[in-house]
Amino acid sequence: MYITQEEFIRRRQQFLSYMRKKSVAIVPSARECFRTGDATYPFRQNSDFFYLTGFNEPDAIAVFHTMNNTGEYVLFSRPADPAREIWDGKRAGQAGAVTEYKADTAFSIEKFDEKIIEILASSEFLYYTFDHDRLLDHRLLAAMKTIRDKGRSGYEMAECIFSVDLLLHEMRLFKSEAEIVAMRKAANISVDAHLRAMRMAKPGLFEYQIEAEMAYEILKQGARTFAYEPIVATGENACILHYRDNNAMLKAGDLLLLDVGAEYQNYASDITRTFPVNGKFSAEQKAIYELVLKAQETVIDLIKPDLPWNIMQRKVVDVLTSGLIDLGLLRGKKEDLIEQKAHLPFYMHSTGHWLGLDTHDVGRYKLHEEWRKLREGMVLTVEPGLYISPNNHNVDENWRGIGVRIEDDVLVTETGSDILSGRLPKTVEEIEKVCSQ
Ligand code: GLY
Ligand code: MN
Ligand code: MN
Repeated sequence: MYITQEEFIRRRQQFLSYMRKKSVAIVPSARECFRTGDATYPFRQNSDFFYLTGFNEPDAIAVFHTMNNTGEYVLFSRPADPAREIWDGKRAGQAGAVTEYKADTAFSIEKFDEKIIEILASSEFLYYTFDHDRLLDHRLLAAMKTIRDKGRSGYEMAECIFSVDLLLHEMRLFKSEAEIVAMRKAANISVDAHLRAMRMAKPGLFEYQIEAEMAYEILKQGARTFAYEPIVATGENACILHYRDNNAMLKAGDLLLLDVGAEYQNYASDITRTFPVNGKFSAEQKAIYELVLKAQETVIDLIKPDLPWNIMQRKVVDVLTSGLIDLGLLRGKKEDLIEQKAHLPFYMHSTGHWLGLDTHDVGRYKLHEEWRKLREGMVLTVEPGLYISPNNHNVDENWRGIGVRIEDDVLVTETGSDILSGRLPKTVEEIEKVCSQ
């Protein structure tokens, strides 16, 4: 594992140091979800829980408290159960929670309702994010009621409840060295998957066959899953932003948009490339592609510490609006068109998002009403696009149905940026070359 136990310990120490004195934080694991009958969806740990514990089992709850000076980490998890383990695989149990996962104290999950009353009864503050796990919400509300009802016996209940996100999501926004290594690995695997797809694509194949080639590359390299449902969109399907049917046939003369990223050791990559099915861009496709590329490269060139988040979207809108005027797809004065948001029929999403354990990672975009400034160690995507609807009758027919997005994963460094997905070609010449291999 790229993230060592020492790093998980450091994260917990940092988290505990941010918590108020006499406070308790409660962070649950993900649950196993049933797909059909007794078949489950693949288990994916809750990112907040994973970030603090590195523990990959369901039915667990991490509790942190600062009732003493050093702070304590209590892990509630499934007890060892040799009979169940024959079916479902090994469980750490309470012994493993302490020895392998470095919990200060470990209890069976069955003890949670009873123990949490003891832990909460003398706390002054609680960190808990409501509405992520309704069952746990109810159990905690019941525990709080029990504590209040015992007020005359000296029990006290925290009077302030904060969301855990306040502390934890700020920590998650800034990536450590080891996280950057993991994210670079995820990006590199995805780059290989995209290269494989560029080389394989040809008229007559189906979108799902391209998806299969990418899945093969991703799984072969040890990523266990896609970071999100892959978007394999040919022709006008590329104009559907979250297209996921992936069942159309690739045709000569069409583009193929691939928004596909691997998740490696729980860290996401999120990469989009768009290229011609038959290896050669038409004049209109090339014009749109180069405009999107110009917008993307202009923004990446701006990225360095102190750049406010909103400037990136503003720059993309500026470059795209100018380019659409030059191509005759918008008519009017640039300033007026920007004011009127005339780009919206062609570009209707934002320039990017934080990237980390979640594809759309946590972290605020505004602080105290002001757009956040980039800082070293943040990772974000830069993903402008242009999508000319097949039903857009304001433009000539030869433009309709062209959809292009270009997306890279970018680390903010001390002096600028480092493109984690930078090995994947993106100029017209480079792409046409790879497609012909
Ligand atoms: N693949 C999802 C996104 O680009 O945000
Ligand atoms: Mn994205
Ligand atoms: Mn994407």
